[in-house]
Amino acid sequence: MRIVAINGSPKGKTSNTHAMVKAFLKGAQEAGAETANVLLAEKQIEHCKGCHVCWTKGPGQCVISDDMLQVLSLLGGADIIIFASPVYFANISGMLKVFMDRMTMIGGPQPVEKPTKERENTDAPGVQVPKLMMLSSCGHPTASEFDVTSLWIHRVAQKMHMELIGEIYAAQGKFLTAPPELLQPVISDYLQLLEKAGKDIATDKKLSVTTEKLLEQAKDGFDSAARGI
Ligand SMILES: Cc1cc2nc3c(=O)[nH]c(=O)nc-3n(C[C@H](O)[C@H](O)[C@H](O)COP(=O)(O)O)c2cc1C
Repeated sequence: MRIVAINGSPKGKTSNTHAMVKAFLKGAQEAGAETANVLLAEKQIEHCKGCHVCWTKGPGQCVISDDMLQVLSLLGGADIIIFASPVYFANISGMLKVFMDRMTMIGGPQPVEKPTKERENTDAPGVQVPKLMMLSSCGHPTASEFDVTSLWIHRVAQKMHMELIGEIYAAQGKFLTAPPELLQPVISDYLQLLEKAGKDIATDKKLSVTTEKLLEQAKDGFDSAARGI
């Protein structure tokens, strides 16, 4: 089992999203998974120029020379790809979106309703299509801040014919990296829960019902979780 996380927070290793990814991957490793954690903040990834050379000349053919091919090589052989991002203006970060646009290099954004012949081929037996997960943190204590991200990742999964096996969202993300006294037990419980989520995914390729239910609480923020609401 190989799990690769792509973190689109410009804050890199100091990001709240990184705290989530790190705990999740720790659990996955403990359950025997091989993991890679890509911080886009440490990579040079240019904007897609929209020239369509990768569509006409073939997968992997891009006119831009940057770190994209190196990151794609890390994705090679992945069983599960995790996209991780802070919420920026109700959406994923620009950094993650820029990366996603460049993913057209390996598979164009197909229409959701009408799969093309090529897409059907990737569904052929023996062709490994990674499964997908989304992790995100936001600032406000409101689960609806993740609505656009959730819609986006569902569309990405449909367009790339990948199965979306989990979404983990934590509101009030700042507490993950700087917990005040009151919230420390809640945050450390939450990080352990993320480890459990990583173990679930590495073992069963899905979150257990209990894990999913407990993770739901953090979507509304940690102060409500601390009050036991
Ligand atoms: C440009 C920008 C836009 C943001 N927009 C939102 C937003 O729309 N809703 C929200 O709840 N938080 C918003 N936030 C707060 C971040 O989502 C939050 O602090 C998150 O935990 C940061 O994660 P990171 O440390 O991984 O980058 C925004 C932050 C920035 C810098």
